[in-house]
Amino acid sequence: MTTIMNQPPQDHQTYDRKKEVHEFEETKLGVKGLVDSGITELPRIFHHPPENRIPVPDLNSDSDSDPIPVIDLLGTPREEAVEKVKEACTKYGFFQIVNHGVPVSLLRRLVDAIKAFHEQPAEVRKEYYDRGTSTGCNYFSNVDLFVSKAASWRDTLQMRLGPSIIDVEAIPAICRNEILEWDKEVKQLGELLLGLFSEGLGTSIDRLKELSCLESRVMVGHYYPHCPEPEKTVGITSHADPVIFTALLQDQVGGLQVKHEDKWVDVKPIPGALVINVGDLLQIISNGKYNSVDHRVYANPLQDPRVSIAVFFNPGNREDTYGPLPELVSPEEPALYQEFKLSEFLTRFFTKELDGKSLVNFFRLKSE
Ligand code: OGA
Ligand code: NI
Repeated sequence: MTTIMNQPPQDHQTYDRKKEVHEFEETKLGVKGLVDSGITELPRIFHHPPENRIPVPDLNSDSDSDPIPVIDLLGTPREEAVEKVKEACTKYGFFQIVNHGVPVSLLRRLVDAIKAFHEQPAEVRKEYYDRGTSTGCNYFSNVDLFVSKAASWRDTLQMRLGPSIIDVEAIPAICRNEILEWDKEVKQLGELLLGLFSEGLGTSIDRLKELSCLESRVMVGHYYPHCPEPEKTVGITSHADPVIFTALLQDQVGGLQVKHEDKWVDVKPIPGALVINVGDLLQIISNGKYNSVDHRVYANPLQDPRVSIAVFFNPGNREDTYGPLPELVSPEEPALYQEFKLSEFLTRFFTKELDGKSLVNFFRLKSE
């Protein structure tokens, strides 16, 4: 006879999840702390419901093709680059860039520095653990820890870069120089990309820059340590970025997947490349010409940790109103989205868990 004693706990109903989440938060050591403690089974706060789990791909098979375009940014004549970027933003919402002008040696040093931050002794790391942003720099596990149904296998060092760095001294010394150098480079790269996005929409090269789309920049340095039960959880749940665009540097471990034509495809790491993706705000401003697409990261099954560094570009003024650019709206192509204040948009994002394209859909005008 099967007794109730033999049954696994009914995770999602019968335990005090809130209490266990708080206990995890109180350790101030993130999932890295759990790995260091030698756990072999995931605490149940990390168990995702079966429908949200991500099958770990067969890492020995090389057969999966990666359709995400790779663009030689500086080696392609301008007009052609505009076309390529436009096509990538329209069809995929994602592309990789090589020969982008950011020294590859800096990219390598940045990954190493962020990794070193996350691998500092527990006592040092703990000092930075904080969800507030008064210094512009903080460290935490899971941005949506208190609002999500399940936690993910990832820790993050977050840093506000723009409009300006609030306090250079608040940046952990172990990665300070690299972050400062990256800040300069990524801003310059961002300007180049915004120009290409603008021209691809048929507007003047400065159109998006004039909307202050370069001004607010937030960097996240994610650390995805080895996960002992990767099939039960995820690295980052499926979501679209609530931004103008994102520039992402990933190391060579792999794990990022993008939804393309209803299938998940791997964004294969390319040494020295950066991954660029369209955010929800650019989709809205472009009146749906560009697409922000869902992406996710599976929990890291490998012994080596995975490091990725994203910079989110957003407009500077949160109280301004945004919506489809008037010149992209016509009787033939009516506005697909309503206008809104950026602050309203961001509040909506941060009070819910990461859950895909619901945000952009919220602002979609209902067609009769
Ligand atoms: C993000 C994100 C992907 C990655 O931070 O929004 O999608 O590879 N990160 O870490
Ligand atoms: Ni993202």
